[in-house]
Amino acid sequence: MDETLHPNTTKTLLVVYHSMTGGTRQMVEAAARGAASEPTIRVRNLLATDTQVADLNADGYIFGTPENLAAISGLMKDFFDRTYYPALDHLSGRPYATLICAGSDGHNAARQVARIATGWRLKAMADPLIVCTHAQTPEAILAPKVISSDDLARCEELGAFFAAGMSIGVF
Ligand SMILES: Cc1cc2nc3c(=O)[nH]c(=O)nc-3n(C[C@H](O)[C@H](O)[C@H](O)COP(=O)(O)O)c2cc1C
Repeated sequence: MDETLHPNTTKTLLVVYHSMTGGTRQMVEAAARGAASEPTIRVRNLLATDTQVADLNADGYIFGTPENLAAISGLMKDFFDRTYYPALDHLSGRPYATLICAGSDGHNAARQVARIATGWRLKAMADPLIVCTHAQTPEAILAPKVISSDDLARCEELGAFFAAGMSIGVF
């Protein structure tokens, strides 16, 4: 069935994330809230550790990860390691977005997600959204994070934009 003729068909946006000190979790929850404002989009928000290859049966993806040690977090990597080959050639052409929570950088984690997504032949629907917490000391880095309302609004907008685009079939 041609979906452009049936724009109300429900589509699924899968959010997969890991978060150690809560920053990434707040970011993906904001993005999921934004996406949920689009009635034709069903949002599934899953921890990376709970996500199996069958869960990748979705119409679009948001990957949320901390940048730890200049890389995506270990548990996010574990998700990609477990699912990469079983899902290869089954996701081609679907849209995705990346949310990164970092102390001061975030770009290496964003590059890693982009390389994996390129392998899966996914299409980036936006540049990676990176939020820096500016935690500098070990104590601050390990403390629970509170993401600012401005940054949460950026994540929510990304989710709403992504869902609206999926709904009308532009992604
Ligand atoms: C072991 C460890 C390594 C980290 N390495 C980096 C890094 O390479 N670059 C960076 O910008 N932030 C780094 N950070 C800071 C985290 O990205 C930051 O604390 C962020 O809030 C983590 O996201 P979360 O709150 O979702 O766990 C590191 C944090 C930890 C615990």
